[in-house]
Amino acid sequence: MDKFLVYNSSLSGSVKISGSKNAALPIMAATLLTECKCILHNIPDLMDVRTMIKILEVLGKRIDFKNNTLIIRNCSNKAFIAPYNLVRTMRASFCCLGPLLGKRKKAKVALPGGCVIGPRPVDLHLKGLQSLGAQISIDKGYCLGKTKQLKGAHIYLGGAFGSSVLATANVLMAAVLADGETVIEHAACEPEIESLAIFLNKIGAKIQGHGSPIMRVKGVKKLSGCEFNNICDRIEVGTFIAASLATRSALTIKEVEVFHLTSVIDIARKIGAEIKINGRTLFIKPKQRLNPINITTLCYPGFPTDLQAQFMAALSFAKGISLITEKIYPDRFMHVGELNRMGAAIQRSGPHCIIEGKEKLFGAEIMASDLRASAALVIAGLAAQGKTEILRVYHIDRGYEKIENKLKKLGAKIVRKKQ
Ligand code: EPZ
Repeated sequence: MDKFLVYNSSLSGSVKISGSKNAALPIMAATLLTECKCILHNIPDLMDVRTMIKILEVLGKRIDFKNNTLIIRNCSNKAFIAPYNLVRTMRASFCCLGPLLGKRKKAKVALPGGCVIGPRPVDLHLKGLQSLGAQISIDKGYCLGKTKQLKGAHIYLGGAFGSSVLATANVLMAAVLADGETVIEHAACEPEIESLAIFLNKIGAKIQGHGSPIMRVKGVKKLSGCEFNNICDRIEVGTFIAASLATRSALTIKEVEVFHLTSVIDIARKIGAEIKINGRTLFIKPKQRLNPINITTLCYPGFPTDLQAQFMAALSFAKGISLITEKIYPDRFMHVGELNRMGAAIQRSGPHCIIEGKEKLFGAEIMASDLRASAALVIAGLAAQGKTEILRVYHIDRGYEKIENKLKKLGAKIVRKKQ
């Protein structure tokens, strides 16, 4: 296991954003819907992508991955089991269920279980697939599904916390090869789902309304292959914005899909950053003492839960009291205790956190608990006085491509060591 040693740093220069992890993973799963070759560009080289490659190989795909390009070919349509030893390391692998049912008519996919950011049920995934006519049962930790042929249906996919990104992906992928028309109401509008729909249409699906809460899918008999460019990672952009705010450093961020980041840019400006945009390049220059602010995480186009921790780290340096309300994962606060160990003053009450900004935080020995919390701790470490030692940084490798190299290029003092 690795750890990071992070020292107080001032950042400058420009950073290039990688392809989106959360867009790449469902698109990779979607290649199960076709026997034709798919070439996917701008795929980040990350642990989660490597795990999805292994799952697809178990499911009969032959895959080459070089220079951020994936070439996915079909060898066999026989396999239908996504095993626990792979699925347990990454929830996104559950979205093999929809394409397996749509194409191979049966699936056995390990249930992903809970995780450190809170309970993560799959009821919406199952409800949607059952509405399309799949017979679903749970046995010994696996979800078993079968169907003679899926049939289009009118499905309401809203849940207690709004729409679900991967449930929408699963149901959408199953619906493209179903007989007749499917309407998904309260579909996730996240850019990653929109991008999945664009990919599916490129291989022959007939989807309308993607990017909106009502999607219509006309089932087709067969899909082909294509060459596709993955979108850039809006959460990585937001992470560098938070790093710029916390360290009060001017940065240039390149390969930014600006329209995916309206809420984040709005919040960063309110916190006190001057932000200019030129095409796909974003320039950010924060003021010395940040403004406190209230942030509520919401489904897209609201402020993303995947940036809550990083912005909490930045707001720990604001002049005054901020409030963060987490509406997607009310328990996603594992970073709070660690930030407080560095001298932050954050109080949690249910889904709310009150952050009393401090002029300084101080390096400490802290523990990364999940992907975005790890990023928040790195940000806090860069802005804190002295040395911060972050244990268990394997979490960050799941979702940020070459993070310490990118940070070092910006002048960050960060070292990876064996724990
Ligand atoms: C995706 O997870 C992302 N993962 C998450 O990113 C992200 O935090 C999340 O969407 C929300 O934006 C990938 O895309 C691989 P949800 P997903 O279903 O789809 C509840 C990261 O750090 N819910 O949209 O699994 C759920 O408990 C990761 O990159 C149900 O109630 O999240 C939550 O409260 C972490 N029933 C809410 O919906 C269900 O069947 C939204 O979750 C499914 C979800």
